[in-house]
Amino acid sequence: MPTVEQQIDALRKEINAHNYRYHVVDDPSVPDAEYDRLMRDLSALEEANPELITVDSPTQRVGSAPLSAFTQIQHELPMLSLENAFTDEELLAFDKRIKTRLKTEQDIAYVCEPKLDGIAVSLLYTNGSLTRAATRGDGTSGEDITQNVRTIESVPLTLLGENFPARLEVRGEIYMSKKGFAQLNDEARKCDEKTFVNPRNAAAGSLRQLDSRITAARPLAIYCYGVGIAEGFELPATHSGMLECLKCWGLRINPQIDIAQNIGDCRVYYDKTLERRATLEYEIDGTVYKVNRLDWQAELGSGARAPRWAVAHKFPAQEELTQLLAVEFQVGRTGAITPVARLQPVFVGGVTVSNATLHNMDEIARLDVRVGDTVIVRRAGDVIPQIVQVVKNARPQGAKKIRVPPRCPVCGSAVERNDDEAAYRCVGGLVCAAQSKRAIQHFASRKAMDIDGLGDKRVDQLVDAGLVETVADLYSLDHASLSGLERMGTKSAVNLLAALAKSKTTTLSRFLFSLGIREVGESTARNLARHFGDLEDIATAPEEQLHEVEDVGPIVAQYIVHFFQSERNQKVVAELRAAGVQWPAIERTTVQALPLAGKTFVLTGTLQIWSREDAKQHLLRLGAKVAGSVSKKTDYVVAGDKAGSKLAKATELNVQILSEQEFVELLQ
Ligand code: IVH
Repeated sequence: MPTVEQQIDALRKEINAHNYRYHVVDDPSVPDAEYDRLMRDLSALEEANPELITVDSPTQRVGSAPLSAFTQIQHELPMLSLENAFTDEELLAFDKRIKTRLKTEQDIAYVCEPKLDGIAVSLLYTNGSLTRAATRGDGTSGEDITQNVRTIESVPLTLLGENFPARLEVRGEIYMSKKGFAQLNDEARKCDEKTFVNPRNAAAGSLRQLDSRITAARPLAIYCYGVGIAEGFELPATHSGMLECLKCWGLRINPQIDIAQNIGDCRVYYDKTLERRATLEYEIDGTVYKVNRLDWQAELGSGARAPRWAVAHKFPAQEELTQLLAVEFQVGRTGAITPVARLQPVFVGGVTVSNATLHNMDEIARLDVRVGDTVIVRRAGDVIPQIVQVVKNARPQGAKKIRVPPRCPVCGSAVERNDDEAAYRCVGGLVCAAQSKRAIQHFASRKAMDIDGLGDKRVDQLVDAGLVETVADLYSLDHASLSGLERMGTKSAVNLLAALAKSKTTTLSRFLFSLGIREVGESTARNLARHFGDLEDIATAPEEQLHEVEDVGPIVAQYIVHFFQSERNQKVVAELRAAGVQWPAIERTTVQALPLAGKTFVLTGTLQIWSREDAKQHLLRLGAKVAGSVSKKTDYVVAGDKAGSKLAKATELNVQILSEQEFVELLQ
């Protein structure tokens, strides 16, 4: 029987090995539940034997008592910055300087790395244990953030293996993923707290916490990219070899790192990385090239600020300054009034931006933005441009505060706000052309009544011409009324009328979805239809009864009751029914009773027998969920021809993969 010490030691080793597979190799070796079990076992043993708890135990990542201030730390070797290159000429000049200094004509091989937009840190491992972590500070001295860095799961508390330097100082970048940043800000908004401008600021703010328990709750991670001190160890001959060593010791290295045989290949790496930028989980602001041979690095040495053997090749900025010219208010389907910023056009993130969303009035108050202000506009990837900050000291005199319009800009109805909501709404309902247009567009859309040829523009035209006010009016359209419209030939008119006639035969769940009841999306509509089986029963169900339906909480239930209580809505529904909108009777079931209840599928690649949408509908009818991306929660991945990254991810996560044939058999 092993002693308690031995058991604890074995558990820590096993957990560290799993951490390595999860964070460094990105290939988990055990399911989450098994990992959690090991952690629980270790915690229990440590709780019973508190004298055996060590600071580098994997259980000690939860944070500890707050500090009163950070201590300053003198870096033994300065933490340098990087020289920047913005153009091809600057890049070639860098390569040329290196060749001149090294007195060589031959190609220089470089290690190419993404330039993470995070916070540079130094980690000191003494005999394999993390003993100190510091910020870069001014490069000569930084702050001791050991307590905070200990909480970051991808920072190993002990190095793996045995063959590592007795004192090892590793350098790397701590960052927050784009997803983690978005979630953190969503939560902050919900709690009316301050949001962060970008992932970099969020990472910096998280590391600057005196209470490491707050840091522990933040989604931070690290990639290591260099070594400062390495005592008692002979380093390999190249930077790439050194990164391999770091990886063996359990330190996380960016998998996007590559070796270029010459500066031309660096240029190719730059383009490739720029193309991938939007798909990366984290923000980067360029690429970094480092002379691979360490003897050459030593020979080249450093200037005052930056090493001569490395350069940062910067991407075009994703944030720029511009001026807020005006704020306009748009009205959505549910009447929500959204402020939209009109900007002095500015080139940012690779496109010219002249509009940005302002979300709602709370956001305007939070930013304290006024017309005439100079603002920082951010556009990352294909994300909608945002105003992230106001440059307060550039505010011109007379900059105008932004107020909610007292009346709807489209229909003139009153504008109101519920206490529990961020949005102001136009109370005009379907009287408001903006709302009725959006409602009709939604009604006609593919996943709703699927009316071919009735796109958004056509709907605008029908409403503007006074031919249609509510969705029910669509079914009174005829040749005579359509013929007078612009861009409406005989053929289009015939086709549209045929599509309208065809749409009358639908399903209860589609019909419910198409009504545009707030918060009733496709899946809630389906659950309602299944649960009640009948429209009349849904329309008359009291709130408590609606709660019985999967995914229907008190708020959704209230919206449903309100919708069907409205006389106007009752009239529209009756007119639709009278026009012949119908669906086959369905059997009442609960989702749990369906054969594929609780199973999550991901469809990928080209399917031969079914279209992906048909396959999805079929699965949904059988109670399965269909997800867009593969995760640990996925039960099956159906892989058609040319399945790519999702198939790879499924293999990696050990998710069951079905060919289309196997999938068809399963359904039968
Ligand atoms: S090397 C002596 N490699 O960029 C070399 N830096 O602008 C110094 N950074 O302070 C750093 N990714 O915070 C290096 N792959 C990478 C990097 C990287 C991001 C940051 C780091 C540094 C700043 C310099």
